[in-house]
Amino acid sequence: MRESHHADYKAGDQFILTGWRVGEIHWGGYAEKARVKGDWLVPLPQGLSTERAMAIGTAGFTAMLCVMALEEHGVRPDQGDVLVTGAAGGVGSVATAILARLGYRVVASTGRAETHDYLRSLGAAEIIERASIATPSGKPLESERWAAAVDSVGGATLAAILPQMKYKGAVAACGLAGGTKLETTVIPFIIRGVSLLGVDSVACPLLRRKVAWARLTKDLPMEKLDSMIERATLEDLPRLGKAILDGQVKGRVVVDLGV
Ligand SMILES: NC(=O)c1ccc[n+]([C@@H]2O[C@H](COP(=O)([O-])OP(=O)(O)OC[C@H]3O[C@@H](n4cnc5c(N)ncnc54)[C@H](OP(=O)(O)O)[C@@H]3O)[C@@H](O)[C@H]2O)c1
Repeated sequence: MRESHHADYKAGDQFILTGWRVGEIHWGGYAEKARVKGDWLVPLPQGLSTERAMAIGTAGFTAMLCVMALEEHGVRPDQGDVLVTGAAGGVGSVATAILARLGYRVVASTGRAETHDYLRSLGAAEIIERASIATPSGKPLESERWAAAVDSVGGATLAAILPQMKYKGAVAACGLAGGTKLETTVIPFIIRGVSLLGVDSVACPLLRRKVAWARLTKDLPMEKLDSMIERATLEDLPRLGKAILDGQVKGRVVVDLGV
C-alpha cells in the first residue's frame, strides 16, 4: 500500500481485495496501481504471501465460504460423501483440497479425464464423470447419495443432484458454469429436508471475509495450492479468457503484473 486515508490502514500494509465488483463495474481489475475503498480490503493474514493470496483469489475464497456454509448447516465428515462439481476449476480445486484436509470423503466431478491424477493429488477419494450428473433423471427423488455438495456448475447439474441428496443434506450453490436455469421440484426440500445454500463472495461482509481468510490459511494445504497455480502475464489474458469460457483452465491462474 502506497498511502492510506483509512483509519485501519497505513502505507506499507499488505491487503487482499476480491469482489465488490472491482474489474467488473469499477475499472482497474488488472491495474498496477489503484485507489480503492478501504472498507473493501482485508488485511493479508500473517504467513500468507501476496502470490498465494491471489492464487486463492475469488474462487478459493468462495470455496471456503461454501465449506463454511455447509459446516454452519451442521454437515460433518462422518455423514457421508461430499460431491464437488466443476472440480478441476478454481472453486472446485480449492474446495476439494479443503474438504479433504478437513476429513471429508470428497467425490470430484469433472468433464476432463486428464485432470483425474491432479484431483486425486488434491485429495479426491473418488472421481465421477461430469456427464453422469449432467442431466436430471426426471424423478423427484433418487437413492440417497450425497451428504453435501459444493456446486460451481448450477443449471441441469444442480437439478440432477438435488434428488440424490441424503436426508437433511445440503448443497452450497455458488456457480453457473453449466447454466443459470434451475428446473426442479420441491420434493427433495419437503420430503428429505434438503437445503440449498446460496453462496455469494462479492458483497460478503468484512467480518465474514476475515474469518474465511483466516480459515484458508489454516485449512487449505499450501503445497496443494501451489500445485494448482499456472503463472501468466498480461499478454496471456486474451488466450486465458477464451480458455476459461471453454472450461479449459485447470486450478488457478496468477497474473504477474510486473510491479
Ligand atoms: N458466487 C460467487 O461469489 C462466485 C465466486 C466465484 C466464482 N463463481 C462462479 O462459480 C463458477 C466456478 O468458478 P471458477 O472460478 O471455479 O471457474 P473455472 O475455473 O472456469 O471452473 C469452472 C469449472 O466448471 C466446469 N464446467 C465448465 N463448463 C461446464 C459446463 N458447460 N457444464 C458443466 N461443467 C462445466 C469445469 O470443470 P471440469 O472440467 O472439472 O468439469 C470448469 O473447470 C463460475 O460459474 C463462477 O462464475 C461464483
